Amino acid sequence: MEKFNPFHGLSTHAVHATEEQNPFNTNVTPIYQSSIYRIPDVATGVAIFEGTASGYVYTRLSNPTLDQVGQKIAILEGIDLLRKDPDRPANEVVRGRIFSSGMAAITSTILARVQSGQAVIAQEALYSRTYGFLSESERHGIHVAWVSNPDPAAWEAAFEATPDAAMAYLESPVNPSLSLVDIAAVAEIAHRHNAWLVVDNTFATPYCQRPFNLGADVVVHSTTKYLNGHGLIIGGIAISHHVDFVDHELYDIHKTFGATASPFDTWLLNNGLKTFELRMIRQCDNAMKVASFLEGHPAVSKVFYPGLPSFEYHELAKRQMMAFGGMISFELKGGFSAGENMMNSVRLCRLAVSLGHLDTLIEHPVSMTQAKVDPAVLAKTGITPGLVRLSVGIENVEDIIVDLDQAMSGL
Ligand SMILES: Cc1ncc(COP(=O)(O)O)c(C=O)c1O
Repeated sequence: MEKFNPFHGLSTHAVHATEEQNPFNTNVTPIYQSSIYRIPDVATGVAIFEGTASGYVYTRLSNPTLDQVGQKIAILEGIDLLRKDPDRPANEVVRGRIFSSGMAAITSTILARVQSGQAVIAQEALYSRTYGFLSESERHGIHVAWVSNPDPAAWEAAFEATPDAAMAYLESPVNPSLSLVDIAAVAEIAHRHNAWLVVDNTFATPYCQRPFNLGADVVVHSTTKYLNGHGLIIGGIAISHHVDFVDHELYDIHKTFGATASPFDTWLLNNGLKTFELRMIRQCDNAMKVASFLEGHPAVSKVFYPGLPSFEYHELAKRQMMAFGGMISFELKGGFSAGENMMNSVRLCRLAVSLGHLDTLIEHPVSMTQAKVDPAVLAKTGITPGLVRLSVGIENVEDIIVDLDQAMSGL
């Protein structure tokens, strides 16, 4: 019988969900820092190996700390198993699988779902390593059909031209151009063609966007970013309401490829999660103010932020996002050299890759993260020589603005 749970708030879940799975009632759930587990007797061991009894044997396969956090993030992503599949038992646990990096979660999801001989329809503007993996996936017998235009009609055309497509893969907002894809429209197209939709929700986070409510089949994250939020770990998660996929296909790839996160990193992730909503409220608020400041600055030609009415995808952002996030990109009028000069002039903002940390992080994609991407692809995905990416932190926003202003003063 399902217990009635009257609590729905994101912070309430982040602080309390799964925390009761703790036999000694410590108020902070402990780390299960062990590579192996004692097996009570041979018959139980056989049942655990066969999957007919629950239990732990070896941490590469599963671990209570990873299961706890995988279940908590699935709850934050709004997984509502009963609504998705009324035939499932009410007490069935839906959890994401925790990986040692966002890339491990992404590559494992693709390899677990797409067979050799099948295809992925993917948006061309993607995080650079995801793009790299997909562009080399012919080596696994997986064909990729790229969609360069976020318009749903382009996805429809790609599916029509690719009858063996098993998956649509997208990020929204896109790293680093911040352009958006209509997730509900792509989910509908994918499902009509018997394919699944996988969404990388790293940039938006479940505070700003719930892809499952828009029809996604799998949500992946780099937990390195907003979910941990403190810049302490590299981690990833893949979540799905297709419980059999998570428990079998994804589990098989996970245990074979072995990209399991450490219990300690996962415990740090759990403790970072407890302030997730607080951080997001502050970061979204700061980002809106910083974006408005940048829009009025003479050194800036264009600002890309889902919350700005001038942004090309603002109407779509209002429709599919609950908040506009902490990521901003902007175009410097002075191009490549202005980008480099600005990177060398910031004093409060940190010149660093990654995003979603407490401190404001700034980078210049063309000279840093996207330096190896083919310039023709960069041009198609809106990454110009003067594009700067900002991950707005939780500092006092006046100080962030003062720093950006002084760093752009000589441009
Ligand atoms: C949108 C997005 N997805 C995935 C990744 C990969 O995550 P990780 O570095 O944790 O492997 C990144 C990393 O920057 C990212 O920005």
